[in-house]
Amino acid sequence: MMALLQDLQEMDEILLDQTHIWNQIFHFINSASLKCAVELGIPDIIHSHGRPITLQELVDALHINKAKTHQLARLMRVLTRSGFFLDAKITDGNGYALARPSFLLLKDHPFSLAPFVLGAVCTIFTGPWHGVSEWFHNDDPTPHVTAHGRTFWDLASQDSEINHYTNQAMAGDALLFMTLIRKYCRGVFEGLDSLVDVGGGTGMVARAIADEFPNMKCTVLDLPHVVAGLEGTKNLAYVAGNMFQAIPPAQAVFLKWIMHDWNDDDCVKILKKCKEAISSREKGGKVIIVDMILDVTQNGDEESIQNQIYLDLHMMVYHGGQERALKEWVKIFYDAGFTDYKTTQIGTSSLIQLFP
Ligand SMILES: C[S@@+](CC[C@H](N)C(=O)[O-])C[C@H]1O[C@@H](n2cnc3c(N)ncnc32)[C@H](O)[C@@H]1O
Repeated sequence: MMALLQDLQEMDEILLDQTHIWNQIFHFINSASLKCAVELGIPDIIHSHGRPITLQELVDALHINKAKTHQLARLMRVLTRSGFFLDAKITDGNGYALARPSFLLLKDHPFSLAPFVLGAVCTIFTGPWHGVSEWFHNDDPTPHVTAHGRTFWDLASQDSEINHYTNQAMAGDALLFMTLIRKYCRGVFEGLDSLVDVGGGTGMVARAIADEFPNMKCTVLDLPHVVAGLEGTKNLAYVAGNMFQAIPPAQAVFLKWIMHDWNDDDCVKILKKCKEAISSREKGGKVIIVDMILDVTQNGDEESIQNQIYLDLHMMVYHGGQERALKEWVKIFYDAGFTDYKTTQIGTSSLIQLFP
């Protein structure tokens, strides 16, 4: 009897393990469903409806095949469970309302992540994840190279769709970033007469900085296919180039979401080029880095820790880079010849000032 009880208990545990594995296997359904919702424009439809929307109203507004009404309800059940929509009671039954994260999926929200969702979940981006085990056996620098035969930036230079998604996804972060800067550390930029945004993409962040500080001369340096055809303003210019070769001189250099794309040796090379480009410390020279300081043991809530660990692997798979703990950052700073640094937390990322 005892043995049977033990067996039953073990069976219960095996069933729990099985459920756990199934849930991990099907985790991708969350991101695929999210992409579907953005493609269909579900958050925008519910938002413009102005009140909770019934399933039938949603089907009508989306102009989808009415025979798939029940299937849409099933998609909405996944998305409601993953925190994007709310079940709302309305007079004649149930409806859907937007949960908080869905506001960031609205196409004209100033901090919209819709382009990021569309880019990050498209098959060309998800492809490299299928080759990670193969990559562990070969000599390729990244699973991206194993899957596509070239680096992410080479692919972006040759594929206009990837280039578009990448630039759009990055640009979406600019307004949120500037809001955080105003709140936490405006003084870091105040008084600078010139700044080069290295790897500044299409210049949305540099534009926001140039508007906020009209006396600062801003330059965006990025690869030729990224800045092709972009026009500057009174205090903003675009330069096509390669940060490993030369960075235009300025009082300060700004690197936002650049370093985590590269391995330690490349980071040291980039920082050495930055050091050549900036003024001396006496003349206010500095490098300003915006990136993450990995802290998976302390302070972080569960969602932030998950975020950091995912982003770290994302960098490994696409770029051969990584997220770094403070100790790892500091080694790179000193290896590149900097003598001092100062960190400021801005939301979930950090702003690091590096002094020559
Ligand atoms: C992750 S994005 C960051 C964009 C921007 N800093 C932001 O935060 O919105 C990295 C950028 O680095 C640029 N990049 C990659 N390799 C580069 C190189 N060798 N020289 C200059 N820019 C480069 C990419 O084109 C891309 O715009």
